[in-house]
Amino acid sequence: MKKLLLCLAFASSTHAGPVPQADARFAVHDPAEIALGQLLFYDPVLSGNREVACATCHHPRFGTSDGLSLGLGDGGTGLGPDRRANPANQPPRRVARNAPALFNLGAAGFTSLFHDGRLEADADQPTGIRTPMGAEMVEGFDSPLAAQAMFPVLAGDEMAGHYGENDVSRAVSQGLITTPGGAWEIIAARVAALPDYRRRFTAVIGNAPIRFTDIANAIAAFTAFEWRADNSPFDQYLQGEAALPASALRGLALDIHLAKVDTIGREVVDAFYVLRENGRRVEEPDEIERLRHRVIEAVSALDGDALDGDALDGDAADGEHREER
Ligand code: HEC
Repeated sequence: MKKLLLCLAFASSTHAGPVPQADARFAVHDPAEIALGQLLFYDPVLSGNREVACATCHHPRFGTSDGLSLGLGDGGTGLGPDRRANPANQPPRRVARNAPALFNLGAAGFTSLFHDGRLEADADQPTGIRTPMGAEMVEGFDSPLAAQAMFPVLAGDEMAGHYGENDVSRAVSQGLITTPGGAWEIIAARVAALPDYRRRFTAVIGNAPIRFTDIANAIAAFTAFEWRADNSPFDQYLQGEAALPASALRGLALDIHLAKVDTIGREVVDAFYVLRENGRRVEEPDEIERLRHRVIEAVSALDGDALDGDALDGDAADGEHREER
C-alpha cells in the first residue's frame, strides 16, 4: 500500500511542487555500523535454532523478499521459491503474511511498518514508537525501522522456533522478552560471545555491553543504506534533475490511467459487497447503471488519453515540469 501511495503521489507531482531533495530524507549512518548490520542481517545466530536469518525471507536475489506468497521461516529448508518444509523439523504452518520488500525504508517518510502499520512513530509514546509490545517497549531504538528488526526474532514461525526447542523460544513462550533472561538478552549474549562481533560493536558503541537495541540499530542502518534506491531515471525526473524521453512519459501516462482504472475497479467490487452486506441483491438498476458508467468512463479515458499520449506529451510535460521549479 505504501508503494501504491508513493505512485499516486508521483502522479500528481507536477502540481504538488518540488519533491524534497533526496539526501534530506535519508539519515546518514556510520560505515562501521552498516558493515556490522550487514553481517547480522545474514546471520542465523539471531534465530532460536540458529537456522534462519533475516535474509532467508528478505533476500536480494528475490527483490529483498522470498519469491513466495507465504514464506517459511523456522522449519523450512532451501532459499526463495525453492524453500520447502523440512521433514525433520516440520513447521506447524507457513508465515501468515507475505514478506514485503525492504527498499527505501530508511527514508524519513516511512514512519509506519508492517502490512497493518502496527509499528509506527508516535510522539505520545515514551519511546517515540508505538509497537505491539505496548508499555514493555524499551528505549534505545534509533527509529521504527530499528524497532521492527527485533520482532521477527520473537515469532515462532519466523526465527524463534517452536515451543521448547531452544532457549529463545522457551523464553518467548514464558512471556520473557525484555526482562533479564528474556529472549532479547539471550540473543544479545549469543552475539556478544562471538569475538569478531564484540570487536566490531566496540568500534560503534564503545565498551558498553551489547544490547538487543544495538543489534537492531545496526541491522536498520544496513537496511536503510543497502536498499536505498532513489536514483533511477524516473527518480531523477521527479527531482527535476533530468528529463524523461517521450516514450517513457507515455508509459507513465498509461501507468497512471491503469492505476485509475484499478481504483475504480476496486470501488465497483466494494459497492457490490456493500449491496450484498445490506442484504439486498444487486438488482437496483440505478446502482448497476452507475457502476457500469464508472467502468466505461475509466476505459474510454484510457483509450483517449494514455494510448495516444495526449495526457503527458513529451515536450509539453517537460516544459511544464521546468516551469514549476
Ligand atoms: C520467516 C520469514 C521472515 C524472516 C526470517 C524475517 N522477516 Fe521481515 N517480514 C516477514 C513478513 C511476513 C513481514 C510482514 C509481516 C506483517 O506485516 O505482519 C515482514 C516485515 C518486515 C519489515 C516491514 C516492512 C514494511 O514495509 O512494513 C521489515 C523492515 C522486515 N521484515 C525486516 C526484517 C529483519 C530485519 C529481519 C531479521 C531480524 C526479518 N525481517 C526477518 C518475513 C520475515
